[in-house]
Amino acid sequence: MNDTIEKLKKLSIDLNNAKDYFFKHLKTLQSSVHIYTHLDADGLTSGAILGKALYRAGIPFQITVLRQLEKEEIEKIAKKVKEFRNFIIFSDFGSGQYKELQKKLFINDHFAPFIILDHHIPQNISNKEKKELLEDLHKKTNPWHINPYFYDIDGSNEISGAGLCYYFAKCLNKSNIDLSPLAIIGAIGDIQNKGPNKSFKGINSLILEEAKNSGQIEVIDDLNFSSIKPLNEAIAYSSEIKLPGLSKDPNKMLKFLQTLGIFMENSEGNIRTLSDLNQDEKQKITLAIIEYSSFKLDIEPRKIVEKLIVNRYSLKNESFGSILHDANDFSNLLNSCGRTENSSLGIAIAMGDRKVAFQKAQEILKDHKRSIMKSLSWIQENQKIQKKEYIQFFFGEDVIPESIIGTISSMLIFDAIGQVDKLKPIFGCAKRVDEEVYKISGRAHEFIVNKGVNLSEAIRKASELSNIDSLGGGHPPAAGTKVPIEKIDIFLENINKVIKEQLQKI
Ligand code: C5P
Ligand code: ZN
Repeated sequence: MNDTIEKLKKLSIDLNNAKDYFFKHLKTLQSSVHIYTHLDADGLTSGAILGKALYRAGIPFQITVLRQLEKEEIEKIAKKVKEFRNFIIFSDFGSGQYKELQKKLFINDHFAPFIILDHHIPQNISNKEKKELLEDLHKKTNPWHINPYFYDIDGSNEISGAGLCYYFAKCLNKSNIDLSPLAIIGAIGDIQNKGPNKSFKGINSLILEEAKNSGQIEVIDDLNFSSIKPLNEAIAYSSEIKLPGLSKDPNKMLKFLQTLGIFMENSEGNIRTLSDLNQDEKQKITLAIIEYSSFKLDIEPRKIVEKLIVNRYSLKNESFGSILHDANDFSNLLNSCGRTENSSLGIAIAMGDRKVAFQKAQEILKDHKRSIMKSLSWIQENQKIQKKEYIQFFFGEDVIPESIIGTISSMLIFDAIGQVDKLKPIFGCAKRVDEEVYKISGRAHEFIVNKGVNLSEAIRKASELSNIDSLGGGHPPAAGTKVPIEKIDIFLENINKVIKEQLQKI
């Protein structure tokens, strides 16, 4: 923990310098701030944290949400900034494109200042072990580029974009500590709570402490099943909890639940999921599963509990019973706004709207959940996952659009769905509606990340080998890019080769 505190101190020194740089330029520009942020839950919470902090400081701002900082977007931003002379903040992206931003925005005769608050592996750096390159980049891009890898903090699981924005907000004013729950929601959106029982590590655990100590978050125990699948399927297809005679058989599981007095439909006739259960029902399921597995499998109850129970992060300032009371559900709600071209609703909710935006978003979430369920069933029923020796991949065809291809890839690999090979990375490919390209979303389970798989590096290398000029990248377990349609076969072939090399290096 001391080590983490030391790293945070170094990061905070740089954040203070970034703050000075920000105020110095804001004064000369005499203009407002333009925040550009990513459309997932981490990006939306990042934007909301910055927005709140600037609002409180009396600094005018606007927020634009983008699906990614692609070259074409950077061109557009460069044109706009020439006209409006805003100070720009890039949050939850920017590191993977820092060279492009430098080239297009730091133009000789027209200095367009910006800062980057991002946690992705920077452009031209293959992995976190490249200490010298990182040190060099840190020196060259100080004070406008903030990235956790400069302080030996792992951006894929120790801090999110929202976490960086939170500490920046705290540099502006310590009272912004009340924004700490948003940093936790952002980190959950990026699946950073991957420790035992879904705990946080590194700087994220310090943020959690701040949120707990300031009375805003409470950590409670919950069941480790998917909260969006119908409950019987969620338990039957769990990859963590195996119940002989019930696993992989949702009908038998349904009967099992009925014997406990738990029914699958609510009063409106909708199918129930884990998040629809009350504490009493969860308690019944816990006891029944412990009893069933200790009897059938002779496993010690303590061992079952380790897998069965996970941390849930309750937001104490949200009304009990509201979907926003649970940080995981909050994050899903934001994600569904971002993925359905309703980012502004997500930003409004993260900034505090509990009326119009919140009402609309709940409807959107229902549709979003439906389309996710439809996509997952379509993949499974039609066996859409194809395999090469070291990777697996699928095409969204006309069922899974680009907007949710990443969510589906994540659920297949990280969630307790259990029907894909977790030992191979997965690449979801969705044809972009307005361009002749596939959007690619790669995901790898930590089993293989710990064995050397790094998808950010793999995507960048495979793009290079395939002569594809896109700004791809991300994190070792999750990365993305776009690939021209005619190059998809060669790209997948190359990525298969690169993953093979990564696994053989160790
Ligand atoms: O787009 P997707 O959800 O698949 O992205 C996975 C991760 O990779 C995200 O954290 C995203 O920000 C990052 N990414 C990136 N550069 C891209 C595409 C994705 O850094 N061009
Ligand atoms: Zn992020």
